[in-house]
Amino acid sequence: MTLHLCNPSAFSSLLLPISTSLLSLTTTPVYNFSASVPAVYRLTAPAISYTNLSFCNVTLSYTHPGQNDEITIEAWLPTSSPNATANSTAPWNSRLLAVGGGGWRAGRFDFSYEGMKGAIGEGYATITTDAGLGFSQTSREWALLSEGNVNLYHLQNLGSVSLGDMGVIGKEITRVFYGKRPEYSYFNGCSQGGRQGLMLSQRYPGLFDGILAGAPAVYWSEAMAGFQWPQVVMKELGKWPYGCEVSAIGEEATRQCDGLDGVVDGIVSDVGGCLNSFDPFEMVGSEIKCAEVEGGTVKITEGAAAVVNKTWHGRETVDGRWVWYGLSPGADLIVNGSGLAATNCTEGKCVGQPASIGKDWFELFIAKSSTFNVANLTHKEFDRFAQASKQEFSSFVETDDSDLTEFRSQGGKMISWHGLIDQLLSPESTERYYRDVSAVLPDIHEFYRHYEVPGLEHCFGGPSGNPTGLLEQLRAWVEEDVVPEASPVEITKPDGKLEARVLCPYPQKAQFDASCTDPTAARCWSCEELPRSQLVT
Ligand SMILES: *[C@@H]1O[C@H](CO)[C@@H](O)[C@H](O)[C@H]1NC(C)=O
Ligand SMILES: *[C@@H]1O[C@H](CO)[C@@H](O)[C@H](O)[C@H]1NC(C)=O
Ligand SMILES: *[C@@H]1O[C@H](CO)[C@@H](O)[C@H](O)[C@H]1NC(C)=O
Ligand SMILES: *[C@@H]1O[C@H](CO)[C@@H](O)[C@H](O)[C@H]1NC(C)=O
Ligand SMILES: *[C@@H]1O[C@H](CO)[C@@H](O)[C@H](O)[C@H]1NC(C)=O
Ligand SMILES: *[C@@H]1O[C@H](CO)[C@@H](O)[C@H](O)[C@H]1NC(C)=O
Ligand SMILES: *[C@@H]1O[C@H](CO)[C@@H](O)[C@H](O)[C@H]1NC(C)=O
Ligand SMILES: *[C@@H]1O[C@H](CO)[C@@H](O)[C@H](O)[C@H]1NC(C)=O
Ligand SMILES: *[C@@H]1O[C@H](CO)[C@@H](O)[C@H](O)[C@H]1NC(C)=O
Repeated sequence: MTLHLCNPSAFSSLLLPISTSLLSLTTTPVYNFSASVPAVYRLTAPAISYTNLSFCNVTLSYTHPGQNDEITIEAWLPTSSPNATANSTAPWNSRLLAVGGGGWRAGRFDFSYEGMKGAIGEGYATITTDAGLGFSQTSREWALLSEGNVNLYHLQNLGSVSLGDMGVIGKEITRVFYGKRPEYSYFNGCSQGGRQGLMLSQRYPGLFDGILAGAPAVYWSEAMAGFQWPQVVMKELGKWPYGCEVSAIGEEATRQCDGLDGVVDGIVSDVGGCLNSFDPFEMVGSEIKCAEVEGGTVKITEGAAAVVNKTWHGRETVDGRWVWYGLSPGADLIVNGSGLAATNCTEGKCVGQPASIGKDWFELFIAKSSTFNVANLTHKEFDRFAQASKQEFSSFVETDDSDLTEFRSQGGKMISWHGLIDQLLSPESTERYYRDVSAVLPDIHEFYRHYEVPGLEHCFGGPSGNPTGLLEQLRAWVEEDVVPEASPVEITKPDGKLEARVLCPYPQKAQFDASCTDPTAARCWSCEELPRSQLVT
């Protein structure tokens, strides 16, 4: 095979965007690299394992002069095939696959590294950026320049600018290293990464040919307010239920709504139907097992039912006006003490336990204070905070622009997907975005498709596996004009058995053929456009 030069001098002809200035560049040849990456880390591709892969690790730091930032981009460029033997050929598949971040991270953390291992295993050159935010899980280290002053350049880098840079620089790196730019460029991310994908389609159309946006934090301000909403409800009610009460209501909803779609498999596919048919208040007074209390049992309280009801129905203003979508019945609102409706109970007394992302957002970016406590906001103040979030930061972080005309005309293709039991971000937000785009561009199906994933939690987890066919389907759509239709997925039933299912491009839903005797077989499922249960809200 060709010997590529994995040393800094080989990159001396690298052309960076005029807005940037290179601070440092290191190259590390990596030999005999082995990896075993489960599908959950690849999000939209199957598990992969390999040995004896070699690649060039090019890591560069740059600044936007005057902005006091230092962004690090890390690219891995395959120089041998996986499981390489002496006669392997074509180490690079001529494509770039950029990998997104999660939470407050733009990328360049454990999760994105796993995605990159998967990518090089398939021959992609791959890249990630830290947006200049370092390695921290929270935004506390960088959000404030000083009390009252948000670090707007850092927020702008997270929101958009680092993504454009990554695409441009990534292509330039392959030009220098392999002697040609990628034939096709892709982006794969979930959550913050899903938001990044949408941002790329909206603000940098033409940069990526194909974009995968999982469980995107689209409508950022609504997402942040949604993180805090159950806590606001509890404060307003003056009731902080035990986690076990809230969990028991969700589990019962799953039991009662499971069969609404015609198949009992532990998964609620008909979310709207479940909201209409299952009343959490019917469980008030039921005795349940509860490890959090002495004696081990507790009766479900009115407060628990009210918190669940309001979390499912979504955010309202203090005067009762509905604002935004909630989470689905069956979504885990407690997540072992870190979920959106989590409380912290000691000796029978419970207090709220706000989830960290929304907490950071409201305390640091809206209150602009390192000592503010989001738990102290009244409902009225919270409404005002949610509004201020949009007023001040829409242009930095929002990805709600539904006019994808330019992305479409540049030939871009996009696939979004969202787990229906996402415990953080409402799947209906992504559905809403898809509908917003289709209102502007009725031929949306020609370039953008959305897949709902019943039984999948936020990005991964839950009874459903990941939509592992989507990366390959996106590639075939971009390169061969093969339009993605049904996509395979595997679910784990309550008894532990694995079953095949299909995922369908919205607004289609998977429909079980009742004449088919074997619900375990994917061939018994098809994608049909069915009337959707009207949601209560
Ligand atoms: C290559 O990696 C494998 C697995 O990690 C290891 O067993 C082997 O000794 C390594 N070979 C060389 C030449 O380093
Ligand atoms: C590498 O070889 C192993 C063992 O033969 C195989 O299981 C794996 O699928 C191969 N991986 C790739 C990417 O070819
Ligand atoms: C790539 O290089 C950077 C900078 O030296 C380093 O921090 C990172 O750990 C390297 N990654 C791999 C997989 O070698
Ligand atoms: C590992 O890959 C290299 C090519 O990068 C090849 O020369 C070598 O023979 C391979 N080693 C084994 C054990 O297959
Ligand atoms: C070397 O390449 C030939 C032709 O592509 C292939 O048939 C053979 O299996 C390869 N050998 C090894 C050890 O992979
Ligand atoms: C559940 O919440 C919705 C939306 O806030 C509200 O209209 C309804 O009255 C609530 N149900 C009960 C029984 O309180
Ligand atoms: C739940 O959290 C507790 C305390 O932090 C921990 O000990 C336990 O392992 C966690 N359980 C799960 C299932 O994550
Ligand atoms: C829960 O509250 C106790 C007592 O106030 C405190 O020590 C503990 O750190 C809290 N747990 C969490 C996860 O915040
Ligand atoms: C804010 O909340 C904290 C913790 O719940 C409490 O100790 C403090 O007194 C509250 N401050 C105000 C101004 O209400």
